[in-house]
Amino acid sequence: MSEFGWASTTDEVLAEIDLSGRTVFITGANSGLGQETARAMAARGAHVIMAGRDQEKLDASVAAIRTDQPQAALDTITLDLGSLESIRAATSRARQRFDKIDLLINNAGVMATPFLHTADGFEMQFGTNHLGHFAMTAELMPLIERGSAQRIVNLSSRGHFMGQVDFADPHFARRPYDPWAAYGQSKTANVLFTVGLEARYAVLGIHAYAVHPGGIETNLGRHMTPEMREGLMKRVTSSDGGFQWKTIPQGAATTCWAATAPELEGKGGVYCEDCHVASVDDESSTAGVRSYALNPSHADQLWKLSEDQTGAKFPS
Ligand SMILES: NC(=O)c1ccc[n+]([C@@H]2O[C@H](COP(=O)([O-])OP(=O)(O)OC[C@H]3O[C@@H](n4cnc5c(N)ncnc54)[C@H](OP(=O)(O)O)[C@@H]3O)[C@@H](O)[C@H]2O)c1
Repeated sequence: MSEFGWASTTDEVLAEIDLSGRTVFITGANSGLGQETARAMAARGAHVIMAGRDQEKLDASVAAIRTDQPQAALDTITLDLGSLESIRAATSRARQRFDKIDLLINNAGVMATPFLHTADGFEMQFGTNHLGHFAMTAELMPLIERGSAQRIVNLSSRGHFMGQVDFADPHFARRPYDPWAAYGQSKTANVLFTVGLEARYAVLGIHAYAVHPGGIETNLGRHMTPEMREGLMKRVTSSDGGFQWKTIPQGAATTCWAATAPELEGKGGVYCEDCHVASVDDESSTAGVRSYALNPSHADQLWKLSEDQTGAKFPS
């Protein structure tokens, strides 16, 4: 289905794609995969709105991209996904400053944090990785509806293998906290959100894609203790003897592919890895997507829970 694969880079995936006239909004654009996605899309002519929670880091990221692309069309916006107040303020500013969004890349994330809570009392990983993006996407929908050939890409992870959404206790109020179960839950939620978006918005021509980027050395591992890092590497290498890190341009390639590949037009609600749509697989530890992450009734349950918890309402 795709000429690209594990080793493809952002520039290779986008080589034949013209993004001039397209507006892209990327969360977590000051670091790692988000910064690379911004760089590569700007290089193909996109107007890129780079969102992050720290203006200084955003400025440094813009400066790094402008080193090679002085004319890049870049804007920044400060938005903390761990605060509904910040999300509402930032999206209100975005609706005043920008006319439309064609591609929304929900990329920001935290992994394996200690037991922490967002400003609104949500468990940090579920709150940042899923609920924050849910509320932000709802508030940006009026801009997305004004775009064309719109796509929403949600960065998930193979980490979704480590946990389903616990609808009775999403914030670990009653079960013991486990940083990996919490990351897994949040990354399963990213896929279920993709399914929920596709079910509601495909009719308007807006399609949603979930992505596993691969294993890439970025700032994502900053919360891991040396013991956690060792445990993770043991798990990964014992389940996948051929495990290899991707470079950052290889890691961001599947995001760029999901956002632009002509062969995916009209075919959202899927989970992509290595620049392909992944197969459903409930056994493999090295590839595929779990069936629970694509379950439409779980997706509806998550949608309702997310509306209730954030107070966000998608325009109907
Ligand atoms: N790297 C991998 O191997 C891997 C594997 C599977 C999935 N992923 C997914 O890929 C995505 C990008 O990760 P990465 O590897 O590029 O990591 P990264 O370099 O740590 O980038 C994460 C970005 O998210 C931002 N962020 C974190 N909390 C935020 C908040 N409350 N509000 C706004 N922004 C926030 C960070 O901002 P600050 O710089 O301010 O913290 C940073 O810009 C994540 O969703 C991750 O789960 C990565």
